[in-house]
Amino acid sequence: MRTIVKNIKELVGVESAPQLRKQGKEMAVLGTVKDAYLVIEDGKIKEFGEMKNLGEQTFDREVDATGRTVLPSFCDSHTHIVYANSREHEFVDKIRGLSYEEIAKRGGGILNSAKATAAASEDELYDMAWQRLDEVMSIGTGAIEIKSGYGLSTESELKLLRVIRRLKESSPITIKSNFLGAHGIPMEYRGHQEDYVDLVINEMIPRVADEGLADFIDVFCDKGFFTVDDTARILEAGIKYGMRPKIHANEMAVSGGVQVGVKYNAISVDHLEQMGDAEIECLKGSETMPTILPGCAFFLNLPLSPARRMIEAGLPVAMASDYNPGTSPSGNMQLILSMACIRYRLTPEEALNATTLNTAYAMGVSGEVGSIAVGKKANFYITKPIPSYEYMPYAYGENKVERIFLNGMEF
Ligand code: NIG
Ligand code: FE
Repeated sequence: MRTIVKNIKELVGVESAPQLRKQGKEMAVLGTVKDAYLVIEDGKIKEFGEMKNLGEQTFDREVDATGRTVLPSFCDSHTHIVYANSREHEFVDKIRGLSYEEIAKRGGGILNSAKATAAASEDELYDMAWQRLDEVMSIGTGAIEIKSGYGLSTESELKLLRVIRRLKESSPITIKSNFLGAHGIPMEYRGHQEDYVDLVINEMIPRVADEGLADFIDVFCDKGFFTVDDTARILEAGIKYGMRPKIHANEMAVSGGVQVGVKYNAISVDHLEQMGDAEIECLKGSETMPTILPGCAFFLNLPLSPARRMIEAGLPVAMASDYNPGTSPSGNMQLILSMACIRYRLTPEEALNATTLNTAYAMGVSGEVGSIAVGKKANFYITKPIPSYEYMPYAYGENKVERIFLNGMEF
């Protein structure tokens, strides 16, 4: 099957020498071709170039993109979309003055979601997660990482991971799964959380590995949640079973999470609202992608992660949605792109790299998605008629996506 998208006003995010990630100054580099065509063969990008150089060829399908821009699909490297209930009552409590930590201490927050999620059947959770996935797909997301973490018991965590496996099997989106058994400390383990850590290590991880359910292992390493020692023990156990670390760090405090993540070669350390110079130093020269979650900082009114300082220090930066019911009830990557520019002062080029190639790297798939490059999956969207690609972050709140293509097929 050969498809051509022709008369593209501007084809954005092209790479002729594909990189696995972009860091420092490279983040400002975004390849584009004006008045372009894009050829897809068997679901992959076969070639692209300027319309004037398109020779005589035959195609099974022609798509006319006159006046429209084509961009690589967003890659969302941090989500928790398998959950049962929304948490708008806690949202109101927060407006009235309670902090996220205070709500968690009284058994709300993650434990509130865990209770409802434990009561839901696998099929119900699948249907709810499918709807969320379908919604983000329609607004431009083409690859996504999904965590467990609202189970917090062996059976419940397995149930969530089986839902993610079913999503992988049934969705055209590229999906990676992440086992986050260490997301919260169940009430019955309060005061002796090391016993819960033992349960994660001795029972959950072997069962998850046995069914091949997780690509990554995650820990919420932060003040009031899991300690650096808990994190190190859990990551070591996961690594033994072939799961690469990808962790939550430094949301509430300078927790040591970045250092422990880098030590265990995490593919990413995520959140990073609390960053000192030592954290930035420690990331230099590592394979770990610092990942900022603008939706969470926005929703919880947290300090902003120092994205510019990181880029100026030569680091790569990725930005993902953190779609979850407690701290970021939206998976809208177009909005994350806008926040990257408006709140974190990334240029549109940096912001586009942060939400496509670098997030693809943060889930280990930047060799197959995240840019327009020959041989990569044909995952892209065609915009509505817009004046320029800078309009994408500029017109925040507006859906600019008109047509979606994943693996070369239109959805
Ligand atoms: O990434 N920080 C930890 N986990 C989630 C929030 C989970 C929740 O509140 O339900 C996050 O923000
Ligand atoms: Fe998260």
